Amino acid sequence: MTVFVLGSINLDAVARVDDLPRPGETVAGLSLELFLGGKGANQAVAAARMGAPTRLMGAVGGDESGRNLKAKLAGYGVQVADVMELDGVATGQAHVWVAKSAENMIVVTAGANARVTPQQVSATPLEGQRVLLCQLETPPTAIEALFRTGASKGALRVLNAAPALPQGAALFPLTDILILNQTELATYAKLDREPVRLEEVSIAARKLMSRPDQIIIVTLGSAGVAAVRRDEAFLIEGKKVKAIDTVGAGDCFCGALAAALAGNIDLRDAVEMANAAAALSVQKAGAAPSMPSRREVEVFLES
Ligand code: RIB
Repeated sequence: MTVFVLGSINLDAVARVDDLPRPGETVAGLSLELFLGGKGANQAVAAARMGAPTRLMGAVGGDESGRNLKAKLAGYGVQVADVMELDGVATGQAHVWVAKSAENMIVVTAGANARVTPQQVSATPLEGQRVLLCQLETPPTAIEALFRTGASKGALRVLNAAPALPQGAALFPLTDILILNQTELATYAKLDREPVRLEEVSIAARKLMSRPDQIIIVTLGSAGVAAVRRDEAFLIEGKKVKAIDTVGAGDCFCGALAAALAGNIDLRDAVEMANAAAALSVQKAGAAPSMPSRREVEVFLES
């Protein structure tokens, strides 16, 4: 069963630093590397590495960087026929700083990602797609078009509403499974601090529910993952690992979850697999290159 991702494709320029700079400060970089990134691309790679046939819809510039990123995606087994190459537009870029503590800061320049349109979605047949997976680095109008068409075809609509954007909330009623981190949950639920305990997370998540059958999943960093329905909630505890780079860990979770759900794995087991996949991803550098294979996740879960 197939995962269809609509999302961003970026060239990530990752500088490692001892400590993240404060405003106005200049710090020395320890290294600079270029990686395939972008929330859409990362999630598609994660789903493909977990064994789900995966299609990615998006856009890159008609430049060398765009062609290279498409080739890398294809190398990971992601189908890229729905990725447009747009002449005269730059490929999306992310400037990423990763500190020794594994904390990071990211600035994204959307470039071609901002040119994905509802028309591109309408022109694409969605028959046979089990899970539709989106984030908010491509225009919400295109996501809305995908989710409206997907609903009529019986697909499961999964939204990772990241980064938190005011327009993002309008998509919640069209979403079957909403995935947020604690910061995004606090932003959308208009809280003055991030909820921590399962009970607080559940109360905040239920404020965002627009349908009784909706599921809201909240990633809690090293504390694990909470899954909240209207009448019940559960917590899968975080795995104890040494993180060297957490960029793309949330994307790993989303892609792995989509792959597991597309394979008809039930929600609790799917969350457990995705949680383990994300714990493996933080132990490697780079976003897309750190996504683990299904076998690696299974071995890790058994250990
Ligand atoms: O979620 C991580 C991703 O966010 C990075 O790969 C970067 O490209 C930004 O889109």
